[in-house]
Amino acid sequence: MSELLKNEALKNLFERRSIRSFKSEQIKDEELKEILEAGKYAPSAANQQSWHFTVIQNKEILQKINDVAKSAFEKSGIKRYEERAKAEDFSAFYNAPTYIIVSADEKAIAPIADSALALGNLFLAAESLGIGSVWIHAVNFLYTTEEGKALFKELGIPDGYVTYGSGAFGYNAGEKPKPAPRREGTVNIIK
Ligand SMILES: Cc1cc2nc3c(=O)[nH]c(=O)nc-3n(C[C@H](O)[C@H](O)[C@H](O)COP(=O)(O)O)c2cc1C
Repeated sequence: MSELLKNEALKNLFERRSIRSFKSEQIKDEELKEILEAGKYAPSAANQQSWHFTVIQNKEILQKINDVAKSAFEKSGIKRYEERAKAEDFSAFYNAPTYIIVSADEKAIAPIADSALALGNLFLAAESLGIGSVWIHAVNFLYTTEEGKALFKELGIPDGYVTYGSGAFGYNAGEKPKPAPRREGTVNIIK
């Protein structure tokens, strides 16, 4: 990237990495507020803003989600997840103190894309505030179990909304990983 284009927003975008080790210290309420506001400012199909953000910071509820995730991992039929669920210290969200589930109205035009863009904004906003984050795919498995469906109801995920993604957030407890090399041949510019 040329020096001319290296503005703060781009630097933030290039510096964000998925973080998988978190301090137990909770993020500040005003930081959470800004992160969520950034999520709401993502683009959405026909400006439907089809998303809903469920923020969990309560330790008992985080534990309950983790227990349900563990059982869904065990039943997933995916070797990698089955192995992970066996770990004594299993945490679907790497023991992060804040876990955000993004669900969206199933009947919206593009709920998956809306949710993904909203999550992208949450991650970038977090990075800009010195907060680590990572996408947690596990939430998509929870619908496969009755326990998971009941849990979503309990968490107040609106009827007719599907969870399309989730993110773990907290202060980074380790080294920030180096970015993986970018794959070649993924761009074709036609002028
Ligand atoms: C749709 C999606 C699902 C992901 N699921 C997980 C996940 O379940 N657990 C995890 O640790 N990282 C997950 N990630 C993070 C990716 O592994 C990560 O973005 C990728 O390795 C690139 O690293 P970076 O984010 O540091 O640039 C997911 C990312 C995306 C976009």
